[in-house]
Amino acid sequence: MLTGCQHGRNGRFLYLAPDMNKEIVVSGIRSTGFLHLGNYFGAIHNYVKMQQDYNCYFFVADYHSLTTHPDPKDLKENVYRVVAENIASGIDPEKAALYAQSDVPEIPELYLILNMLAYKGELEKVPTFKDKVRLSPNNVNAGLLTYPVLMAADILIHRAVKVPVGKDQEQHLEMARNFAVRFNSRYGDFFPEPNVFRFDQNTVKIMSLDGEGKMSKSENTNATIFLSDDDDTIRKKIMKAKTDSGPTAPDSEMPEYIQNLFLLMHMVSKPEVTDTFRSAFNNCHIRYGDMKKQLAEDMVAFVKPIREKAAELQKDEAQIKRILRNGAEKARASAAETIAGARKLIGINYY
Ligand code: ADP
Ligand code: TRP
Repeated sequence: MLTGCQHGRNGRFLYLAPDMNKEIVVSGIRSTGFLHLGNYFGAIHNYVKMQQDYNCYFFVADYHSLTTHPDPKDLKENVYRVVAENIASGIDPEKAALYAQSDVPEIPELYLILNMLAYKGELEKVPTFKDKVRLSPNNVNAGLLTYPVLMAADILIHRAVKVPVGKDQEQHLEMARNFAVRFNSRYGDFFPEPNVFRFDQNTVKIMSLDGEGKMSKSENTNATIFLSDDDDTIRKKIMKAKTDSGPTAPDSEMPEYIQNLFLLMHMVSKPEVTDTFRSAFNNCHIRYGDMKKQLAEDMVAFVKPIREKAAELQKDEAQIKRILRNGAEKARASAAETIAGARKLIGINYY
């Protein structure tokens, strides 16, 4: 059976996973806090759908989280929580490799190699880097600048072709493609070009409930719904979501913060419920209080089983350790093959 990277008939490399009929998928989530609906609908939701048909590598980006110098005593708990929340959301560790980035030393090795192909100017232009500089001007470290290079290493280490991420990560992915192309043109065809992958045509971006930017782990936590929020917290957050006095003309364009409520409703409520409120909006009869009450109840029902399962799993350290060890073993098998191939092409081939 063909596995990993082998020469095909035309001399080009073939990129084959252990199951040769499946394409390779990679994605990561930083272990910087509690997972929220943005992570769920923007990322994990897609992971769950992919694990059946693709060879999936999903990981906790704990090295990436070090850019902001988290307290060492929090790291383990953070990583365990992300693992538990991913499994509670439907990731099956038997189907997908679920691992911690720091358990795969081939990733930092490839990161070092790719750093030689990444230019200071292009890294400084990345919007997420500029945001971080603006938000924490006293901590503009080199890890922050080279964040997209580490992300490229995460992806290219498995020669992945599909990367399920939210819209905010598209530029990082474009950079990963650029590094792959640069490597290939300098050293020979080796890395496939990875692309953003989504099941839905529209890119899902969940806005913050206060209408300011995207839902995120670090900004306004009162306007972000976490998978660990209890029922009453969810209700309170949704009831406080930004609305207005409603449309004054039929079929008006929806403000972004209202569109976001409808998007959330579309994700968690029955289609006929969403349709009823959408018609009410179009006919100018909508009562946002009623809509939010309905959304709150549907959201509670949606989050509750995920929260409960994640909490239960987090208590079972032995199980989480087993999952991480198995995941790391699968990831290292694939990573070791890539690094061996890359070293050879570069000329690191001394023995
Ligand atoms: P955060 O921005 O909350 O720190 P991460 O940067 O760790 O989240 O993102 C993990 C994944 O979740 C990425 O694929 C990202 O695109 C997705 N994601 C994060 N926030 C959102 C959001 N508000 N809407 C859609 N996808 C999101
Ligand atoms: N940078 C991503 C984020 O902030 C997380 C991430 C790290 C990632 N490495 C990755 C996502 C590799 C996909 C593939 O959301």
